[in-house]
Amino acid sequence: MKKIIALGGSNSKNSINKTLAVYVANKVANSETIVVDLNDFNLPLYSIDLETSKGIPEEAIRLDNLINTADGVVISLAEHNGSYSVAFKNAYDWMSRIDKNVWKDKPMLLMATSPGGRGGASVLQAANASFPRLGAKIVADFSLPSFYDNFSNDGLTNEALSNDLKQKIDLLQEAL
Ligand SMILES: Cc1cc2nc3c(=O)[nH]c(=O)nc-3n(C[C@H](O)[C@H](O)[C@H](O)COP(=O)(O)O)c2cc1C
Repeated sequence: MKKIIALGGSNSKNSINKTLAVYVANKVANSETIVVDLNDFNLPLYSIDLETSKGIPEEAIRLDNLINTADGVVISLAEHNGSYSVAFKNAYDWMSRIDKNVWKDKPMLLMATSPGGRGGASVLQAANASFPRLGAKIVADFSLPSFYDNFSNDGLTNEALSNDLKQKIDLLQEAL
């Protein structure tokens, strides 16, 4: 049984990105989904001074360990003003201080969604540029635009998007 991390890059209780990440991770065959909700990790705002005086928070080490135990990562990033949400960037920055290889060379399906028509295209671009330098093996990326028009509880309602996503889930499956 493979372990798939489903991570929403947001601290919103009703995060659409968490919803998408969990939905997609659950589609990976012969796997169990480990949901990572950033609200469950109580991390102070990253500061070099805090790191120097108090070290790396235990909660960041716990998150790093979770990534270590996984076989693959499904992540969907919230876009705030064209970039990462503060909650995600903060966790990412802390993790990068534990190990530059944040993503541990695990196969990753990288996604973003937003209620708008660009579907988090800017944050997806940022992550595509940065994540591989921190150890992500991105097998595919996927942007879901206009989340509330294209997603229902049963999944993606747009056939073209749904077919595209299926192919990308297959790529992740093959890489596990
Ligand atoms: C401070 C802030 C900035 C935002 N900036 C963007 C943006 O640049 N692009 C975008 O598509 N949506 C933007 N949004 C809308 C988010 O995409 C929307 O809140 C979405 O639900 C966030 O994902 P989440 O539900 O997973 O947290 C912004 C929302 C907030 C609160």
